Amino acid sequence: MTPARTSGAHTRLVGTAMPVPSTHARSQRSRNPASNPVFAAVITRLITVPIARAIPTAKTTGAKAKGSRFIVASAPSLARRGAPRYVRPMAADTLTLPLPDDWHVHLRDGAALATTVPATARTFGRAIVMPNLRPPVRTGPEADAYRARIAAHIPPGSGFSPLMTLYLTDTSDPAAVVAAFAAGQAVAVKLYPAGATTHSDAGLTAIRKADAVLHAMEEAGMPLLLHGEVTDAAVDIFDREAVFVDTVLAPLLQRHPRLKVVLEHVTTAHAIAFVLDGPPTLAATLTAHHLLVNRNAMFQGGLRPHHYCLPVLKRERDRAALLAAATSGHPRVFLGSDSAPHETTTKESACGCAGCFTAHAALELYAEAFDSVGALHRLPAFASENGPRFYGLPVNPGTVTLRREEWPSPGAVPYLGGTLTPWRTDEPLRWRATRDTPPA
Ligand code: DOR
Ligand code: ZN
Repeated sequence: MTPARTSGAHTRLVGTAMPVPSTHARSQRSRNPASNPVFAAVITRLITVPIARAIPTAKTTGAKAKGSRFIVASAPSLARRGAPRYVRPMAADTLTLPLPDDWHVHLRDGAALATTVPATARTFGRAIVMPNLRPPVRTGPEADAYRARIAAHIPPGSGFSPLMTLYLTDTSDPAAVVAAFAAGQAVAVKLYPAGATTHSDAGLTAIRKADAVLHAMEEAGMPLLLHGEVTDAAVDIFDREAVFVDTVLAPLLQRHPRLKVVLEHVTTAHAIAFVLDGPPTLAATLTAHHLLVNRNAMFQGGLRPHHYCLPVLKRERDRAALLAAATSGHPRVFLGSDSAPHETTTKESACGCAGCFTAHAALELYAEAFDSVGALHRLPAFASENGPRFYGLPVNPGTVTLRREEWPSPGAVPYLGGTLTPWRTDEPLRWRATRDTPPA
């Protein structure tokens, strides 16, 4: 994988570049840190690593903000007198980054928009809006109408811009699809394999039925967004993404070498390795929940329906691989929350719906994941820069500042006729994001 290269002039000490050592390693070093050569080397590196090697500046990003584009304010220097007992990265307490985008979100429709649109517009400049309504959003005019319904709920002054997508069916018309792209009615097409997930019954029944549409999209430069799971009941649910990658995605890239493809909400080490090793036309989005928890969370002391989503949570080794990719700075990996609200009663049910609502604190949850491995400085690339670059859009003007601050997660919030239970509502949030006033 190729970490994004950055450069600049700032030389302030940060400790965010070092991985958190294992508990075992920490206990070994803490016995006599000063005499440990690894400790000495790490301290030397922490003191001398220039901030600019890790953190892009206004110069490198073309940002309009005054001075440093991303500002990391750190805890007291590790280099001060009195050697620390543990070799641990210094934790940054604030981060200012360009207004991010959410490249995969479910806003739903009707009364739901009153909850979902302000939640996403709070910290994101744009969002790719999933078309899996009932009936789905299949044409340019349908996308226009849906955009107008969303627009009615955009908080004044937020500048939030929904980016619309079309739902691919067996009968999608190639000319109409690319005409919607050319007219700016839709930025991408979403492929749901029929039966793979929520509201996917109108989805594609066989990939080859989309040959003509995909060819037209390839010619037009219109991206394809994938729900990457096979639906064969004989395939174990935990293997569906890996089998999709091997049997559907790999041949699809061979047939359409110029088609831009985003493998969405990647959940496995196998799939993320495939993307990282893949061509420049292939990208991945990652959700905050797949970066923060593994499948054990679904069964922690009982069945936990609010952790159930599709593709389903995977093993710890998968979560670790996703987090490593997200924090690597790789330019083809970016933020897509897959925030997917369902009424509480439909989740806490004998047959609960798939989907986690994270939009109430999506950016904060990503910050928590990045901070857990001392990689907060990689968040601007992942959240604000890589997505626009892949889609050929400018980075948003304006900034958001994240501050390390504990605040209670909201409990159930009113939603439609009942309530909505945000994801991980039983633990406090650890970061808080606020929009900054636009630079003068
Ligand atoms: O968990 C999910 N929920 N995965 C999806 O692919 C769809 C989403 C929804 O719309 O609820
Ligand atoms: Zn989704």
